[in-house]
Amino acid sequence: MDLTTTYMGLTLKNPIVPSSSPISHTVEGIKRAEDAGAAAIVMYSLFEEQITMEEIQLDHGLSYFTEAFAEALDFFPDMGAYNIGPDSYFELIRRAKEATDIPIIGSLNGITDSGWTTYARNIEQAGADALELNVYYIPTSPQMTGREVEQLYLDILTEIRATVAIPVAMKLNPFFSAPVYTANQMAEAGADALVLFNRFYQPDLDVEELHVVPQLTLSHPYELHLPLRWVAIMYGRVQADLAITTGVHNAIDVLKCMMAGAKVSMMASELLRSGVGTIRRILDDLLLWMEEREYESIQQMQGSLSQQHAANPDKFERAIYRKVLSSWSDDPAGQNFQFG
Ligand SMILES: Cc1cc2nc3c(=O)[nH]c(=O)nc-3n(C[C@H](O)[C@H](O)[C@H](O)COP(=O)(O)O)c2cc1C
Repeated sequence: MDLTTTYMGLTLKNPIVPSSSPISHTVEGIKRAEDAGAAAIVMYSLFEEQITMEEIQLDHGLSYFTEAFAEALDFFPDMGAYNIGPDSYFELIRRAKEATDIPIIGSLNGITDSGWTTYARNIEQAGADALELNVYYIPTSPQMTGREVEQLYLDILTEIRATVAIPVAMKLNPFFSAPVYTANQMAEAGADALVLFNRFYQPDLDVEELHVVPQLTLSHPYELHLPLRWVAIMYGRVQADLAITTGVHNAIDVLKCMMAGAKVSMMASELLRSGVGTIRRILDDLLLWMEEREYESIQQMQGSLSQQHAANPDKFERAIYRKVLSSWSDDPAGQNFQFG
């Protein structure tokens, strides 16, 4: 049984990749994921703010240094070549590469196209096999247009693309008005893969204490439907590999991702909830399911349920929508509610 897949030029032994999360905070965590069968791992993100903060601290340190010990500056290395990045992140990648055999995908998270993007090079030099870019941006300005938001993504991607030679994946959010067009713009700007979709953490309101309550809830399986639909629509229409993140919890979910057209299915919530050992169980279930149905490979099923052959996906989507609404039966308990 052949579980291999390819993802932005990398050959992976199977399609399960732990997505960016605390699983990659330590080499031990990364090693545990590899031992459980993970085909690659996306590192937790290095944030623009972390980088800028270090620069500010260094600037402060330098000016203090200059004033207090001007003569000692002779001992200071050439600043142009001085590595002021969050070294522990790069060091972790370096050590993870030594300790494991799976591809390590670095992750950068930021929203401007200046300065910090050059740290992509440090990630590459540390040995990362690829880089995932997460532009976690909430456009709150009433003056900012949708086009400008898209341009912000493209500018950052262009900067990063010019900085590194390793493959670059772009983690997208589900709120673009023309997702397929935007996805192709990302591909044209050099994205080797698109990761659908970034999961936005939605704060709650405490009406007694009158404050905003930030909360991080793990995903539910039904959240898979959104990326599944868009991967099925984009498959064959977008010139980049597609990955699904959000709502992958078991082997059937992985199969759905593959049939929709994804090259890999990424997981965080389920692994945090039940431990990375879950990967092994999912792989076993996957093999059993494929064996029983006489599938020979993962690649054989990739895209088999995509919308590639629908001449007008927009008409197809409206037809499904009408069908779903008209399938509602007048049953208060919802017992008879079914599709088809
Ligand atoms: C605790 C936690 C930390 C995360 N940290 C990051 C991060 O640093 N960078 C990032 O791009 N995504 C991060 N994510 C998002 C995940 O990579 C993933 O896209 C999201 O949780 C949806 O997948 P899931 O349904 O499998 O959880 C984090 C998720 C969780 C639960």
